[in-house]
Amino acid sequence: GIGDCFSQLAAPRNPKIHLYNAEQVLSWESSSAGNDTEPVRYRVQNKFTSNNWDDVSLVNCSQITATECRFTTANFSGGFQKDFNVSLRVRAELGCRVSAWATVPWFQHFRNVTIGPPENIVVTPGGGSLIVTFSAPFDTGSSAEASFSYYARYWGKGGTQQVKGPETSNSILLNNLKPFRVYCLQVQAQLFWTTPKIVKPGNFSNTFCQETAADASTRLQQIILISVGIFALLLALTGGCFFLVLRYQELIKYWFHTPPGIPSQIEEYLKDPTQPILEVLDKDSWPKDDAWDSVSIISSPEKEGEDFEPKHWSSQETPQEDIEQGNR
Ligand SMILES: *[C@@H]1O[C@H](CO)[C@@H](O)[C@H](O)[C@H]1NC(C)=O
Ligand SMILES: *[C@@H]1O[C@H](CO)[C@@H](O)[C@H](O)[C@H]1NC(C)=O
Ligand SMILES: *[C@@H]1O[C@H](CO)[C@@H](O)[C@H](O)[C@H]1NC(C)=O
Ligand SMILES: *[C@@H]1O[C@H](CO)[C@@H](O)[C@H](O)[C@H]1NC(C)=O
Repeated sequence: GIGDCFSQLAAPRNPKIHLYNAEQVLSWESSSAGNDTEPVRYRVQNKFTSNNWDDVSLVNCSQITATECRFTTANFSGGFQKDFNVSLRVRAELGCRVSAWATVPWFQHFRNVTIGPPENIVVTPGGGSLIVTFSAPFDTGSSAEASFSYYARYWGKGGTQQVKGPETSNSILLNNLKPFRVYCLQVQAQLFWTTPKIVKPGNFSNTFCQETAADASTRLQQIILISVGIFALLLALTGGCFFLVLRYQELIKYWFHTPPGIPSQIEEYLKDPTQPILEVLDKDSWPKDDAWDSVSIISSPEKEGEDFEPKHWSSQETPQEDIEQGNR
């Protein structure tokens, strides 16, 4: 009945605005009125600096059963402008009955936001240095009124903590570090808002640990060491070979001996079978040092010998004449 409309509904309890990075969410606790068939609904309103209270225009938080209103949705992606002075209130409604308004303190996103750590952090080892790259915790918009700068705090094992920054680009170079040492670091974003002038530090990131690479001087040392090492190795090898040659001279001589083949004198004979083989053999003295284990007797059939017409006769002429002269 109409009389019911005068009975008060309990107001939502503990309203809170959650501002984290780009997120803007108002939440509250149920006012425990209503029943299963007709649950209580909530209405959220906003007010900017000098305007009147009004339903939130870009999100539907006017007749909701949920106990939160998310301003940063696909429809209202940016949420309230981050420099706006926003006041919010919420009440419960059930039919014609309404509760008192529950309010949260006014806020400006840039002033009240909790800034998370930089995102997409990548640590790359450099020569006696580390390069940290990252992206902003959230988009501050196109205006230059607000921007991030970054700090890194870092420490070597057992060393003292140092700070690098502020850096306005999305990377920080930690240099003058010891090569081949593990350094740990955390990065932090800091929001600078020009109007009003507010500096707001963000949360530190997780700890990243990374070993540095060789710097220029250790690289040079390495090159020198490797060169000296290779030189020493070559020297040792050469010395070793020389020693072995000296030690096993006889054995090596035996191994490297020319395998038995057709002695040159016999070859000569085969080219000109008219010459008596024995004279040819007598003429050129056999190398006396070479001790042949076995003598291969090569028989050259007469017919084949006759067919054998050396193609390079002319080149053989001179020695051939010598031999003939020697025969006479
Ligand atoms: C639920 O509430 C509505 C409005 O207050 C009332 O008309 C209805 O009878 C209630 N239903 C139950 C099951 O209590
Ligand atoms: C707002 O949401 C409520 C419940 O979620 C729905 O009944 C209503 O139609 C919506 N209004 C608009 C304008 O989308
Ligand atoms: C924001 O608005 C509230 C009331 O609407 C006011 O009390 C407060 O001073 C304003 N804040 C700033 C920084 O203007
Ligand atoms: C935002 O910060 C101002 C002071 O800087 C404070 O008065 C106000 O209550 C804060 N708002 C919220 C919702 O915390």
